[in-house]
Amino acid sequence: MNYNQDTIDIFTNLKVITEKHPGRLLDVLNCFNKNQYKCKKWLVDCLNNYEYHFKNKTKDSIDIAVLGGWYGLTAKLLKNYFAVKQIRNIYSYDFDPYTKKLGRMFFNDIEFVEMDIKDLEIAEKSFSIIINTSCEHMEQEIINQTIAKAPKETLFVLQSNNYIEIDEHINCSASLQDFADKFKDNLKNVKMYELDMEKYTRFMLIGAKQ
Ligand SMILES: C[S@@+](CC[C@H](N)C(=O)[O-])C[C@H]1O[C@@H](n2cnc3c(N)ncnc32)[C@H](O)[C@@H]1O
Repeated sequence: MNYNQDTIDIFTNLKVITEKHPGRLLDVLNCFNKNQYKCKKWLVDCLNNYEYHFKNKTKDSIDIAVLGGWYGLTAKLLKNYFAVKQIRNIYSYDFDPYTKKLGRMFFNDIEFVEMDIKDLEIAEKSFSIIINTSCEHMEQEIINQTIAKAPKETLFVLQSNNYIEIDEHINCSASLQDFADKFKDNLKNVKMYELDMEKYTRFMLIGAKQ
């Protein structure tokens, strides 16, 4: 998968953010840095190779939820490069109001929803895939609840890391196996992946709700 400035053009909006939301500039730059692209591109590439989950499914198009979706980079890359099924709707949920406000400036084709994922009634939605690349930022109980509320066979894509030096990382995993063990009772057919990020390792699981 390649991306270019026609797809992800953050520069047009940086002037507005610098002038109107200077306190957010660093966070926005972090969201779109090289490592963030690397981890999200990796996610899309791995998910595109997880085809068999959809082989016998009859839906022509699917809904996808991204939990803790920040300024929408994961949603946008999926929207443009997920190749297995047509996407009907893709939602980026985050409880930080600025992620919706600024995220819409970057990606006007993504549905941003300001919400604590604790309050998301997943059982009433029709998500075929639920993605959470912010596991290290969330209590395990909250992540488990999102899985508990989803219908059986919903595909989950989860990312975390062992980067304990960051204060906001309240739920790191020591290893890929440690991360997978947290989901051994609620996911099945789990594929495990890891990516060396030099200072830390990023972990990813793709598996279906049991
Ligand atoms: C720093 S960002 C994303 C980091 C992650 N490594 C990534 O690249 O996706 C974490 C996001 O999760 C959001 N978040 C954390 N807990 C949340 C919750 N309970 N409900 C909704 N959003 C949440 C934060 O507001 C923030 O935008």
